[in-house]
Amino acid sequence: MAINKVGVVGGGLMGHGIAQICAQAGWDVVLREVDDGKVEKAVAMIDKQLSRAVDRGRMEGAAADAVRGRIEGTTDYGRLADCDLVIEAITEDLGLKLEMWKEVDPIVKDGAFLATNTSSLAVIDQAAVTSRPDRFLGLHFFNPAQVMPLLEVVQTVTTSDEALKVGFEVGEVLGKTVVHAKDKTGFIVNRLLVPYMLDAVRAYEEGVGSIEEIDAAMKAGANHPMGPLTLADFVGLDTLVSIGAVMFDEYRERRFAAPPTLRKMVAAGWYGRKSGKGFYDYSGDKPVASELGL
Ligand SMILES: NC(=O)c1ccc[n+]([C@@H]2O[C@H](COP(=O)([O-])OP(=O)(O)OC[C@H]3O[C@@H](n4cnc5c(N)ncnc54)[C@H](O)[C@@H]3O)[C@@H](O)[C@H]2O)c1
Repeated sequence: MAINKVGVVGGGLMGHGIAQICAQAGWDVVLREVDDGKVEKAVAMIDKQLSRAVDRGRMEGAAADAVRGRIEGTTDYGRLADCDLVIEAITEDLGLKLEMWKEVDPIVKDGAFLATNTSSLAVIDQAAVTSRPDRFLGLHFFNPAQVMPLLEVVQTVTTSDEALKVGFEVGEVLGKTVVHAKDKTGFIVNRLLVPYMLDAVRAYEEGVGSIEEIDAAMKAGANHPMGPLTLADFVGLDTLVSIGAVMFDEYRERRFAAPPTLRKMVAAGWYGRKSGKGFYDYSGDKPVASELGL
């Protein structure tokens, strides 16, 4: 099926990136946010990325202008009506997502496909509130969507072969490495990565090594680009706890449960990089391991 126009609902960390790469692929893009301020913020983030690409010689100025010209920011769901594909990247809250689809599904033309970028929620729960669960799939991009090469195309029980094929085609056009994943919480990457990060916290709690030692060991011993505790800070400790909670709820296995230290850090507002403090303190010139009092 030919895709000419893509709707992106939510213009935060993920949504603005997805909108940008879709416009770079030559598709017209409608980017919907909740208010004008949020629309402006999302578009400004895209402008900044495009300017940086031009400054670094990775994109011609005219090409950047053309990309920008293909993106329409709006607060009006009605603008999604003639999209061939609508991808949601709104806040990770099932209630909000279901409310949104109940409004969007009747507006978007028949024949269009709907997709969720959720990291931890079951795709079927969203598909089931639409009138087209056969045309609903998961398109799980990684942060930042402009850079990370992977796209998990998620098939839930209702997803048709046609919808799955569209997911693969979208990934190929966007130049992504596309993998097929079933609708099991965490899909492939988080299913493996989340327990790994949580286990690193447990190893720290058990005194196996210090924060720096655990990170240094996995970098030098497993050739990972960053250690698991640095990675946890990067993902966001609050996000890690909430994804872990959803996965624990689904699988009831200890490996998905947030260790006490992590829950306490989140309660204290230590969310990692974004709050300036997590396993490391980011207030100085370079990160310094935090004193966690264990
Ligand atoms: N952050 C990540 O690393 C990451 C990676 C992959 C997938 N995801 C998934 O992507 C989704 C978005 O995550 P994020 O990190 O971009 O969150 P975010 O908080 O940065 O952005 C969410 C945006 O959605 C907007 N929003 C809320 N309700 C809306 C609605 N009805 N219509 C339009 N906009 C609405 C909010 O105003 C906000 O700007 C989540 O489902 C998350 O699980 C996140």
